[in-house]
Amino acid sequence: MTRNFLNLSDAGGDGIAAILDDAMSAKAARNDRPKGALDDDASLTGHMLAMIFEKNSTRTRSSFDMAIRQLGGSSMIMDAGSMQTKRGESIADTARVLSRYVDAIMIRTAGHDIIEQLSQYASVPVINGLTDLSHPCQICADLQTMIEHGKALPGLNIAWFGDGNNVANSTIEAAGLFKFNLRLALPNGYDPDANFLDASCKSGASIEIIRDPLAAANGADVIMTDTWVSMGQEGSSAIMKDMMPYQVNDEIMNAAKDDAIFMHCLPAHAGEEVSQSVLDSKHSVVFDQAENRLHAQKSILRWCFGLIG
Ligand code: CP
Ligand code: NVA
Repeated sequence: MTRNFLNLSDAGGDGIAAILDDAMSAKAARNDRPKGALDDDASLTGHMLAMIFEKNSTRTRSSFDMAIRQLGGSSMIMDAGSMQTKRGESIADTARVLSRYVDAIMIRTAGHDIIEQLSQYASVPVINGLTDLSHPCQICADLQTMIEHGKALPGLNIAWFGDGNNVANSTIEAAGLFKFNLRLALPNGYDPDANFLDASCKSGASIEIIRDPLAAANGADVIMTDTWVSMGQEGSSAIMKDMMPYQVNDEIMNAAKDDAIFMHCLPAHAGEEVSQSVLDSKHSVVFDQAENRLHAQKSILRWCFGLIG
């Protein structure tokens, strides 16, 4: 059966754990070789990855491109704006056509229904490179980064600040799989997806929505945030005012544990969701997160092809 990676639950807790183990050992095995050099086993030699972008990207695009190259394969990058889907061709036909040319499809799109339809009609693995609903590749890199910084996941206290967006939804999903405690410090009206919340709470995760940002930060091991305005959601002038109390700044970091790490999927907007001082502080691991997109996604690709998990 084709393995798709639309959300973390497609791999489940065991699959994600296998992806994280594989990512950390493959990262260590590269031994600082040049970034364009192949992995020892070049385990996806000859494989072609199509990447469709309906929204902007720096990290997802370049890290997936390097990921498939290091595994011995290649990628083609397709701008959704110049595809025939823009002129009415169906997602179903697009999926069936691309499946004749490539071995896997990664897509960044708005509607999660689009990626679901694509995966329904494709006969090759489909990977979610971000939708309005979720960003599972990012969270794999984030979990890897937490572990590498000595934060064992079960029982960890993670506090999320700002918008209950796609990255927050995937963090909620991860809480259900790995049983860490998640406090979401959000203004009224910016809560995350109710289905993700319900599913994780039902699986035994401890997740709280807290309106008091300092209470959410108190004793946290990990402080996370993301942009207040996700791609495609520009336009509401109330956002800055609603969100300002939830900015991650020195006061918030001081309320967390002394060795707490600060995480942000990037791109960051210093002075909005995070102060420059926190972004530049010793707590900040944002570039480790960005690097781990590469390593985690190599393992997601390997999982999709049944090589692990
Ligand atoms: N974090 C992330 O997905 O970055 P890009 O938008 O640059 O791909
Ligand atoms: N929540 C952000 C993440 C960007 C990587 C967005 O969707 O724009």
